[in-house]
Parts: sequence; structure tokens; C-alpha cells
Amino acid sequence: MSVPLIEVRRVSKRFVKQLDLAGKIAQRLGSEIRDEVVHAVDKVDLAIKPGEVVGLVGESGCGKSTLGRMIAGILPATEGTVLFEGKETAAMTGAEQRAATLAVQMIFQDPFASLNPRMRVEQIIGEAPLVHGLVGRAGLSNYVDEILLKVGLDPALKRRYPHQFSGGQRQRIGIARALAVKPRFLVCDEAIAALDVSIQAQVLNLFMDLRQELDLTYLFISHDLSVVEHIADRVVIMYLGRVVETAPTEALFADPRHPYTQALLCEVPRLDQRKRDFTPVEGEIPSPLDPPTGCHFHPRCPFVMEQCRTAIPKLEGTGHERRMACHLGARAGAQSS
Ligand SMILES: Nc1ncnc2c1ncn2[C@@H]1O[C@H](COP(=O)(O)OP(=O)(O)OP(=O)(O)O)[C@@H](O)[C@H]1O
Ligand SMILES: [Mg+2]
Repeated sequence: MSVPLIEVRRVSKRFVKQLDLAGKIAQRLGSEIRDEVVHAVDKVDLAIKPGEVVGLVGESGCGKSTLGRMIAGILPATEGTVLFEGKETAAMTGAEQRAATLAVQMIFQDPFASLNPRMRVEQIIGEAPLVHGLVGRAGLSNYVDEILLKVGLDPALKRRYPHQFSGGQRQRIGIARALAVKPRFLVCDEAIAALDVSIQAQVLNLFMDLRQELDLTYLFISHDLSVVEHIADRVVIMYLGRVVETAPTEALFADPRHPYTQALLCEVPRLDQRKRDFTPVEGEIPSPLDPPTGCHFHPRCPFVMEQCRTAIPKLEGTGHERRMACHLGARAGAQSS
């Protein structure tokens, strides 16, 4: 078996929301009030093989971006380990760490917000490779041209500023900036969500062409299930900071097994048939400040059993590269074996 390109083991992220002044005064006066802690990501295990495209799906606030940012190395984990090519990033030498940081790049939803409005496109794309010594000053102009061509932009436009481009073109600039440091792995966080539907398909195709051309591996975070179904080899479903199910894409869409996945994929007839967005799952998403005990999904689960209220289900293999964290599955598995 090949070593995963990226792996996280038992990785968690907790954000502490400090008390406001009133809260602090109440605390001084003997109230039991404490800082609020959000368990944005809770002991997640995930390994992504070289060349794989993994889709990461779940309702808003379930921790997708937080997990993506930890994987991309731009947010430190509270607990757990992140490995690049089998090596713990925290245990790497400075040079190794820099190489790993460059190898994993992140593409964001809003290209405009992530591009410096005062920099010309050639600077935006050329800055990092120059700083990191991937190209010298003499070769920089050609280097930038090549990358612009790769992402489908005319090199003649490289002296322009971001505001002089359309949304789709700006996202291409963001992709070019990421590609400029020769990454192996891209974390795309809702990378096409802000674009017009007609443009979305073009940028998606670009991602897939680049995958072939540059041997890229992807973690693709998306709200749009049709996008994930279209491009991902494997899907990971998150709920309130935990992974509840992962399976090869075709198997997951044909036969969703976790009750949350089933609810998520349950299709309602829509006027716009192309878009398979989330079906609102019944019941409210519980607050990550005070998640339910046991299985986080139990208050909304139609199949809830007694043990679901108290015991956290483990993410366990259910055969054919599928894993699921559900007491129901464990029981079904035990019956069939
Ligand atoms: N910097 C932060 N400080 C405090 N809480 C945060 C911070 N970033 C995220 N959170 C909280 O962590 C949880 C997970 O957030 P995250 O942005 O990872 O979710 P998401 O799945 O990406 O949601 P969306 O689909 O809306 O992008 C949320 O409850 C969010 O409010
Ligand atoms: Mg997000």
C-alpha cells in the first residue's frame, strides 16, 4: 500500500470564545460562567492517497474549513498529528517543513478577498516562487507566463490588477498563485461556490485538467453534492466536527449508510435538477458549543437507540473501503458476520 500523501491522526481543533466584560464581571462575582469552547474538529482520522480526489461534505459549521486549514498547515491543531508523506510535520526540520508547506496549497471561496488589490497579477503569481528560490529574477517573467497559460489566462494581461478581471478569471489567478510554488496537494475550500453556474463548470474542468497534467491530489470541500459526485473519488461526510462516513463516491451515492448521509442525500424534486444541494435535514443543527452526548446526530436520527445517547460510535470499516461511525452499522455488521 502506498504511503498517504496527507494524513491526519486524531486531529482536533478547539476555539475558545473569551468571555465578554459582563461575563467576566459575573465570573468575578462567583457565577459559574466559563469561557465557551467550540469543538470545531473532534479527533478526526483521514488519509489521502497520492492522486486521490476526496470530497468533504457536511452542513455549515461542521468543521470542514477548519479541518482543511489544519491539513494545509495554516492553522495549528489543538491535538493530534498531521503527516506529509508519512512524516509528522511537527517533527520535521525547518527545510522539510518549508517544503511540506509549499507542497500543500489552499484555494479559497472568494478569490477577490485573497488577492492583494494593489498588486499586479505578475507580482501576485511571481512573489512566492521568487522568495522560495523556485525561479530566479531572470526567468520569472517566462515562469509567470507559463503558469497563466496553464490556468487558461492570457499572459498579456499580467500587468493588470485583480479588479480588472471577472470572478472566474480571478479564481484562475488564485489557482495560478497556488500552482506557482509547484504544489502536490490542493485544498479547495468552496473554490467554485461564489462563481456563476456557467463559470463553475469551466473552473471545475480546469481543476480536473490540472490533476492530470500536474499529478495533483485534492481535498475538495463543497456544499454542492453534484460537484462532489462529479469529481471526487471518495467522499468524507462530517457532522459537528466528526467524520461520520467515508466511502468511494459511487458507492456512497448509490447506497448511503449513515442515517445522516441518508438524510443529506435524500433528494427532493427541484426545478433546477442540476443542483443537488443539501436537503435540509430535519431538526436543527445542535450548537458546537454544547454538542449532544454520545453520537452527535442522535437527537435528529430516525433510528436512535439507547446507546446512541451515551456512547460515541467509532469510525469503523464496513467493507469495500467504506467506514462509518454508527451504532446501527456496528450492529448490522455484527449480524452479517
Ligand atoms: N477563528 C474561529 N474562532 C472561533 N470559532 C471558530 C473559528 N473558526 C471557526 N469557528 C467555529 O468552528 C466551527 C466550525 O467552523 P468551520 O468554518 O470549520 O465550518 P464549515 O464546515 O467550514 O462551515 P461552512 O460550510 O459554513 O463554511 C463553527 O462553529 C465556527 O463557528
Ligand atoms: Mg467553511
